[in-house]
Amino acid sequence: MIIGILKEESPENRVALLPESVATLTKMMVTVYVEKEAGLRAFASDAEYETAGAKIAVKEDVIAQSELLVKINPPTDAEFGQMKEKSILLAVLNPYFNGELIKKLALKNITSFSLDVVPRTSRAQSMDILSSMATVSGYKAVLTAANSLPKFFPMFMTAAGTITPAKVLILGAGVAGLQALATSRKLGAVVEVFDVRAAVKEEVVGLGGKFVEVEGAVDDKSAGGYAVEQSDDFKKKQAAAVHDHAVKSDVVICTAQIPGKRAPVLLKKESVEAMKPGSVIIDLAASTGGNCELTKNDETILFHGVKIIGNSSFPVDLPSDASKMFGKNVINFLKLMISAKGEFNLNWQDDIVKGTCVTHDHEIVHERVKAMITA
Ligand code: NAI
Repeated sequence: MIIGILKEESPENRVALLPESVATLTKMMVTVYVEKEAGLRAFASDAEYETAGAKIAVKEDVIAQSELLVKINPPTDAEFGQMKEKSILLAVLNPYFNGELIKKLALKNITSFSLDVVPRTSRAQSMDILSSMATVSGYKAVLTAANSLPKFFPMFMTAAGTITPAKVLILGAGVAGLQALATSRKLGAVVEVFDVRAAVKEEVVGLGGKFVEVEGAVDDKSAGGYAVEQSDDFKKKQAAAVHDHAVKSDVVICTAQIPGKRAPVLLKKESVEAMKPGSVIIDLAASTGGNCELTKNDETILFHGVKIIGNSSFPVDLPSDASKMFGKNVINFLKLMISAKGEFNLNWQDDIVKGTCVTHDHEIVHERVKAMITA
């Protein structure tokens, strides 16, 4: 089997597989082509890839030689144009929001796997790129907030007086939110956390946070660990509760998401207006609309003295470890489809292989993606 690794377009700094992951593949009898300078922005040189057993080539040759291409971001138009019919693509396709690309992949008979729809089962945990990238985002969000805040995070008792600790409010206690909580606590902040899933209360408390409950949340156990859309009545109650806590906070970190939908708006304009000047809002949900009403994706704005940073792509700023984690997830996924002799072996009986496949044999085969795209 021949696998190709493509270079990502700027501003992406990560690479799908670092040399250490390539070495794992070559031990699995796989031939690996790597696009020239693919790992440079993640601090991996072509020479290191060659030592790991890869062949370095220009983009066109990597695409022409490979049976399976691995990327982080969806293919560019040029890459898509060069991809062969019946080839295989493994990337983060964001399929619920990229309907046109998914239709094109099906039309060209490309078998595509989207790593952001890996089923959320225990067996699939080691392949869950959403979790690993959320870990990076939660951590970086806190460091960015600490860097932007005009005051300390920890409490200090000094000869020059006592400094009170920063107050951090976290909206959403999924993987990113819990990492933001742990990082904020390590830096000495006092942390409060909101979520609609009561199951996370124990984890929040265990990490030293205060869980703020709003009664009446719909907590659908059949949603695979994800949150679901809330009623209008709950949204009003939650907005009021978030307001009361936000105005007392120095930092708000927004992480709440509902898969395939616009992120819930939890922090209204009036609440930001009432926040202390100098406060910082980091909105990790910016790319799906943001949890703060005023967030602008990929922009930092100042509103009534409050800095609002709309950034859903923090992993780009930690390219070494983010690529390392991404690559490990990819390798674990590829192990499901490579035989002991290094041959490609698609097992449709495997729920992870089946549940991650988006297009195959000219069809959109992922039921949820298909329902959303054709709706
Ligand atoms: P996510 O990124 O989809 O959402 C982040 C958080 O926002 C979630 O905790 C969600 O409940 C919360 N949220 C959504 N709407 C909200 C609202 N209106 N108000 C307040 N909070 C709201 O979720 P993420 O981080 O990807 O994962 C969620 C859970 O999935 C994890 O905590 C874990 O239990 C489970 N999981 C399971 C995996 C597996 O078994 N393979 C892998 C990763 C996560």
